[in-house]
Amino acid sequence: MEYRKLGSLDVSAIGLGTLRTFDVTDDDEIAVRRRIVDNCLKSDVNLIDTAAWYGHAEQVVGEITEDLRDQFYIATKVRTEGKAAGEAQIARSFELLKTGYIDLFQVHNMIDWQTHLPTLERLKGEGKVGMVGVSAMVPDAYPTIMDLMRQRRVDAVQIPYNVLNRSAEDEVLPLAEELGTGVLVMEPLQKGRYVLELKQQPDLTPLRDYGINTWAQALLAWVISDRRVSSAIPTTSRPERVQENAQAAAAAELPQPFRDYIRSEAERCL
Ligand SMILES: NC(=O)c1ccc[n+]([C@@H]2O[C@H](COP(=O)([O-])OP(=O)(O)OC[C@H]3O[C@@H](n4cnc5c(N)ncnc54)[C@H](OP(=O)(O)O)[C@@H]3O)[C@@H](O)[C@H]2O)c1
Repeated sequence: MEYRKLGSLDVSAIGLGTLRTFDVTDDDEIAVRRRIVDNCLKSDVNLIDTAAWYGHAEQVVGEITEDLRDQFYIATKVRTEGKAAGEAQIARSFELLKTGYIDLFQVHNMIDWQTHLPTLERLKGEGKVGMVGVSAMVPDAYPTIMDLMRQRRVDAVQIPYNVLNRSAEDEVLPLAEELGTGVLVMEPLQKGRYVLELKQQPDLTPLRDYGINTWAQALLAWVISDRRVSSAIPTTSRPERVQENAQAAAAAELPQPFRDYIRSEAERCL
């Protein structure tokens, strides 16, 4: 596994997302998520991203990582409106995640960020939060995000960035590099669509020397071979895919011509 700086942390270049996949309550389903987390440990994946908004995901992550807290960096998000509601949701995240310290606390999709950032900044000052961040799904939010980056109010941003969605490339990623802001990449597989909705099978032959054996690995390698990315955080409900996805980190130094090849295969096959 390749580790990269996210603030003072060394995070795995492939992390784990929990949207949809960790919103489970059934014991058998929770047991599968336990295997997913076990496979993160086996694959040296040390970053888990979740959110208050993801149904039961924080609770499931909290139950599974309670005795493994020192093995993972935990990122979560607040998403509500108003100071009191924000503070209550943030307090609940600490409870559900069964921890007194959250490594990265983000404002989800910038919702009511003017209210929540001061709360998170206070918690950072109190040592309960390691880093403050924001997530945003649409380029309309990028000017505000970049202002916050320049003002050094955020340590990390979470944005979509993948082979066919390169809106962060023009300004956000260069600024992150200049300022040393952490970058988490959401939806590296476009919610799985880029793997499931292929019209033709991509030819992986030229990528095999880089340890890329599946199309999902190619897509992830494309993302993390941009060195401005701290971690791509694909999610899965299948334990074996954790290892498959983590192995994409072997291609973290993929040269640009191979990135271009993956992009042209994506354009041909999607
Ligand atoms: N606004 C925000 O802040 C925001 C928005 C979106 C996402 N996020 C974060 O980013 C994370 C990732 O985004 P995402 O979950 O939407 O999408 P994603 O990671 O791009 O795609 C996840 C989907 O891809 C499939 N998949 C994973 N590995 C695979 C593989 N090796 N081969 C084939 N299919 C594979 C999974 O299906 P299976 O379960 O069948 O494996 C899952 O449905 C989220 O979990 C969340 O933590 C944040």
